[in-house]
Amino acid sequence: MSRCVVVGSGAREHALAWALAKSCEVVVSPGNAGMAAHGFTCVDTPATELDADLFVIGPEQPLVEGLADALRAQGKRVFGPGRDASQLEGSKAFMKDFLASAGVPTARYATFSDPDSALSFLDSMSAPYVVKTDGLASGKGVLVTHDLAQARDDVLEKLSGRAFGGAGTTVVIEEGLAGHECSLIVLCDGTDVVALAPAQDFKRVGDADQGANTGGMGAYAPMTSMTPDQVDNVMREIVLPTVAELRRRGIDFRGVLYAGLMLGPYGAKLLEYNVRFGDPETQVLAPLYGDALFDLLKRTSDGRLGGSLAVPSGAAVTVVLAASGYPRRPRVGDVISGLGDDGQLAEEIEGVIVFHAGTQRSAGGVFTTFGGRVLAVTGTGASLEEARRRAYQGAALVTFDGMVMRTDIALGAH
Ligand code: AMP
Ligand code: GLY
Repeated sequence: MSRCVVVGSGAREHALAWALAKSCEVVVSPGNAGMAAHGFTCVDTPATELDADLFVIGPEQPLVEGLADALRAQGKRVFGPGRDASQLEGSKAFMKDFLASAGVPTARYATFSDPDSALSFLDSMSAPYVVKTDGLASGKGVLVTHDLAQARDDVLEKLSGRAFGGAGTTVVIEEGLAGHECSLIVLCDGTDVVALAPAQDFKRVGDADQGANTGGMGAYAPMTSMTPDQVDNVMREIVLPTVAELRRRGIDFRGVLYAGLMLGPYGAKLLEYNVRFGDPETQVLAPLYGDALFDLLKRTSDGRLGGSLAVPSGAAVTVVLAASGYPRRPRVGDVISGLGDDGQLAEEIEGVIVFHAGTQRSAGGVFTTFGGRVLAVTGTGASLEEARRRAYQGAALVTFDGMVMRTDIALGAH
C-alpha cells in the first residue's frame, strides 16, 4: 500500500488525512490529539526525515518557508508549491503586482509603509474601506468597514507593527467590492489545471456576516449558485493567465491555486490567492472527493493531472466550533463534552464526521480546547439541506464553555 505524509495540525489536515486514508497509509506530522484519537499515526519527526510516496503540505507557513523545495531536493514527490510561488499568498503586495502583470481582474489597490501617504490615499477612496496586512495573518489581517475613522486607526495600528509584528508593517489599501464570495480550489500540475467544486466560506465570526474576519467559521460545497459557465470564465480569465505568468517566471507550480473570488455585476474579480487547500473548505471538499483524492494529488505532483473531473454527487456542510474570544484572544483549556473516545461524536449520526483543529487530550482521555478554531463538524448528504441538518445535529452534541458557532452556515443556499 502507498504511504502518504500529511504536514500540518489543523482540521484541514484531519480532513485530508481522512480522505487519503481511503487509498493509502497516512502519517501526519505533527497532527493533533483528535487525529491520534481517530486512529492516525501522528509523529513529531519533521517531514524531511520521513519516507513516503507522497508528501502533502497543508498550511501556508511551511510552504512560504520552502518545505516543498527542501523535500523536492531530496527527490520526494510533493504536493505543494515552492517558496517562490508561495509569495502569492505570503505577500499581498507581491500578489497584487503579480496579478497586474498577468492581467487578472482584481480590486484597485496601492501598497504603503508610510502612514501619511497611506492615510491620504485612504481618504481619497469611498466606502467600504479595505485595509490589509501585507504578510501572513491567518485570515485575520483584513479590515472591511464603512467607518473611515476605524479604517484610519487600523492603518496606523498595522503600520506600527503592534497588530501583526513584521507581517504588518506594509499595508495594502484597496477598493471595496460588493458581491458574493466563492472559493474556487484549483489543482495545478505546472501546466494543466482542474477546478474542484466551488465552495463558499463564511468569514465573519457572527451570524449574518457580522463581527470580525476570521480564518473561516463554516463552509459548504458545491456552491451551485456559481454556474459551470462562471467557473469556465474564471478559469479562462483568472486561473489560466496566472499559470501562464507563473511559467513565464520559470515557476513550476504543483499544488493548489485557491482563488478567493468576488462575484458581482462586474463578473468575477480575484480577492486573493492562497497556495494551499482552504480551511474550512477542505472539510467539505475532502468528503466529496474521498476515494479520488490520493490519485488526484499524486497526479498533480507528478505533472500528469490531465483531463477534467466529474462533478461529485451530494453535498457537504461544515460548521466550525471556535473557542471563547476567537478570533482576537481565544481562550484555551475549556473541557469539551460530547466527543467519544475516538474524538468523533459520543452518539453516532449518519453522514457526520468531526475534524479536530485546536484540541488537546489529557492522560485521562478528556479533550480540552487548545486553539481558536477547535473543531469542524461536517455533515454530508444527498442534498445540501440534508448535509446542513446533519452538520448542525452533530454540532449540537458538542459543548464547551464560551463556544462560538454560527447558526447560519449554508442557510438559504441551494
Ligand atoms: P482576503 O484575505 O484578502 O481574502 O480577505 C479576507 C476577506 O475580506 C475576504 O474573504 C472578503 O470577505 C473581505 N475582502 C477582502 N478584500 C475585499 C475587497 N476588496 N472588497 C470587499 N471585501 C473584501
Ligand atoms: N477559508 C479561508 C482560507 O483557507 O484562507
